[in-house]
Amino acid sequence: MSSLLEKLQQSVLDVQARLQQDSSPEAVEELRIQFLGRNGLLPALSKEMGSVAPEERKNVGIAFNSSRKAIEDMLQDAKNAAGAVEAKKNSIDVTLPGRLANAGHKHPISIMIDECVNTFRRMGFIVAEGPEIEDVYHNFDALNTPMDHPSRDRGDTFYFADGRLLRSQTSPVQIRVMESQEPPVRIVAPGRCFRRDTPDATHGMNFHQIEGLYIDKDVSLADLKSILQNFAWEVFGEKINIRLRPHFFPFTEPSVEYDFSCIMCGGKGCPVCKNSGYIEIAGAGMVDPNVLRNVGYDPEVWSGFAFGLGIERLAMLRYRIGDIRYLYENDVRFLQQF
Ligand code: PHE
Repeated sequence: MSSLLEKLQQSVLDVQARLQQDSSPEAVEELRIQFLGRNGLLPALSKEMGSVAPEERKNVGIAFNSSRKAIEDMLQDAKNAAGAVEAKKNSIDVTLPGRLANAGHKHPISIMIDECVNTFRRMGFIVAEGPEIEDVYHNFDALNTPMDHPSRDRGDTFYFADGRLLRSQTSPVQIRVMESQEPPVRIVAPGRCFRRDTPDATHGMNFHQIEGLYIDKDVSLADLKSILQNFAWEVFGEKINIRLRPHFFPFTEPSVEYDFSCIMCGGKGCPVCKNSGYIEIAGAGMVDPNVLRNVGYDPEVWSGFAFGLGIERLAMLRYRIGDIRYLYENDVRFLQQF
């Protein structure tokens, strides 16, 4: 009899110990079958009740019921705990911050092109385009470029075997636009250009320009200057100093170069401005009468100006970038800053 009480006590202790070792749902189910199942230990012990002396039967009965209850409770608790862990695994924690998608954005060169185009649009220019693969006629001949001009050299311009070339400037778009329409003309043409330059802090083998062309009656150098000055102020603010220097281009007469004071060093001199305090932004000038003749415009009636702005230089000034090569390395640590 006393051994039945001991067996009941021992079975409670056994279940407890085994749950401490393993309380997985499978282990819990195994214990249930082993202790409470139809052929389990407790039903077997209940059969032994018959041999208990009648005066002790009541106590043993109470002990049996409380032991079975204890085992049932332990198994139920273990089951609940495992269920809670499982539920947590599958649930979504709505209080966590969401994961941000990595959205792309414009490259600094595109930002700069858009800004320039929008500025010129406000001044009445419309956008024109031309091919990056050009012929010699549009890139050089029609632009009044003498046969011995150094820019025609194979060392300066990329030629294809068939004689065509990668345009070295956006100026051929001037010719294509004038060939396709009668004056007046007021266009800007942003685009990629190619030159056989050795890359350094301010040069790359490909770069971007915005060409401008304005043809009408009675256009003067003063109109050119006011457009460029207005552009500088609109895009860089009124602190910027500008400078026009006499220069030479085959397709403009007179020709000028148009400089911004260097924003990197404030004009003191640094590697970006090659210690000059100024950065060359644009070549410009009054369209040469020969160019007008080449496209069938009468230079006695029509006159105008053209300019070609360097986009990379503008972006470098705007964002204080000390080396043009950063713009082409696709380093996200650099690009993320814009
Ligand atoms: N095409 C010239 C260059 O690439 C710039 C320029 C454009 C000069 C238009 C005058 C007029 O340097």
